Amino acid sequence: MPDYVIRLATVADAEPIRAIYNYYVAHSTCTYQIEPETAEERVAWLRDRAPRHPVTVAVEGSTILAWASLSPWKSRCGYAEAAEASVYVHHEHQRRGLGRALLLDLIERGRAAGLHTIIGGASSDQTASLALQLALGFRVCGEMKEVGMKFGRRLDVTYTQFMLRE
Ligand SMILES: CC(C)(COP(=O)(O)OP(=O)(O)OC[C@H]1O[C@@H](n2cnc3c(N)ncnc32)[C@H](O)[C@@H]1OP(=O)(O)O)[C@@H](O)C(=O)NCCC(=O)NCCS
Repeated sequence: MPDYVIRLATVADAEPIRAIYNYYVAHSTCTYQIEPETAEERVAWLRDRAPRHPVTVAVEGSTILAWASLSPWKSRCGYAEAAEASVYVHHEHQRRGLGRALLLDLIERGRAAGLHTIIGGASSDQTASLALQLALGFRVCGEMKEVGMKFGRRLDVTYTQFMLRE
């Protein structure tokens, strides 16, 4: 049995969510953000969620180990039934099954909320992220060459997709 629970995040979770994310801003191409996110930005992001776009956290005791979210894919109304998934596991807690559990939970939340499809993807050098998505049934739908730049390198992005309904 896992020793953590997955629950919806609240604004009170903003700091641990931000800390997990900012580690990857500084050290990884899994986000193309360059400057650390501020506390105000993360609080505003948490306050701005709609029912179809949850943020979840995996919590052990009172410690947040990982978080995940569904966000609008694009702002035009016609895209309302598509959402983009994000999962960030604290760098000291990888390979405990947290990423898998959070992404599976997001899929079920998205289905229950009436979404039609979830879009994934990652910088093409992010093998862990892409392996997780493919292991859960996401399919690669394309790769865009050199659309990103971080740490002095141009980066390709691979997009994936999971259909919630046929
Ligand atoms: C990608 C990430 C979310 C994976 O989370 P995790 O909790 O470490 O992964 P899990 O233990 O749940 O692994 C689930 C599956 O993902 C794949 N996987 C995870 N990490 C991997 C790695 N380093 N290399 C290859 N495959 C990996 C495997 O298929 C794994 O199944 P297995 O353990 O049976 O082999 C985590 O590494 C992370 O937060 N990375 C930085 C942020 C990021 O890239 N987020 C985007 C994800 S959508």
